[in-house]
Amino acid sequence: MSAEALELVGVGKDFRRRGTLVRALEGIDLRIDRRSFVCVVGASGSGKSTLLSLVAGLSRPTTGTVRLDGRPVTGPGPDRGLVFQSGAVYPWRTVERNVAFGLELLPISRAERARRVGWYLDETGLTPLRHALPKQLSGGQRQRVAIARALACEPEVLLLDEPFGALDVQTKEDMQLLIRRIWRDTRTTVLMVTHDVEEAVFLGQRVVVLASDPGRIAADIDVDLPDDRDLTVKRAPEFIAVRGRIEDLVRTYHRGQVARASA
Ligand SMILES: Nc1ncnc2c1ncn2[C@@H]1O[C@H](COP(=O)(O)OP(=O)(O)O)[C@@H](O)[C@H]1O
Ligand SMILES: [Mg+2]
Repeated sequence: MSAEALELVGVGKDFRRRGTLVRALEGIDLRIDRRSFVCVVGASGSGKSTLLSLVAGLSRPTTGTVRLDGRPVTGPGPDRGLVFQSGAVYPWRTVERNVAFGLELLPISRAERARRVGWYLDETGLTPLRHALPKQLSGGQRQRVAIARALACEPEVLLLDEPFGALDVQTKEDMQLLIRRIWRDTRTTVLMVTHDVEEAVFLGQRVVVLASDPGRIAADIDVDLPDDRDLTVKRAPEFIAVRGRIEDLVRTYHRGQVARASA
């Protein structure tokens, strides 16, 4: 078995919008090791969501291939858990029935289903809210439900598309700590996209920077911080330095696009 969970080779994606071609991604080569935590950052429109939807199997690449454990991705599957910014939860299902949702489609016993629901409710701090309906929850709690639901299927890879983008700063930091703890406990491979560089550096062992128009890899940076980091690391000089370096890259590659658009 290879060390790579995920492999993208020569991946490109074109869209057609009112007759014109939009090249959302071009020549993406990316290898992600099993059990690693990789963040992809880039300005809005740089192709982050497109990249995740290709890995999720929700759309097919125009060129190249996406492989998971050496097998080509041809559609969605329980080996990939996906969480979006909006925390899509089923409003008519209680918290625990939301968490159970993906499990109802898996060939596992009722006892195993109950065990997993209990475990992931606990892991995400939702046990006291297990009988609540989504409308009774805060935004952060709803995101916890979406995360617990994705994790309950025990996916090979957890795919996160700006999952904390709509949360206030304190809730966002709580969620960052939660996701790091879950990653440590479950050792699931995590691929997260965000436009928030601070978040990417805090969470990732590696940060991939996307340039825009067409979306392509501009830089791939190892974050040399301890794996058991807490929030105070955000004030450490090494953290501030790597954050600054990545922010400059994001800005440069975004400016390039803006300059060309107005030329
Ligand atoms: N379904 C689609 N049809 C046409 N263009 C799309 C579609 N999805 C994304 N795009 C275009 O592809 C580019 C990348 O979009 P996206 O992946 O959503 O970027 P990001 O998530 O980084 O903001 C943008 O120019 C966007 O307008
Ligand atoms: Mg997006």
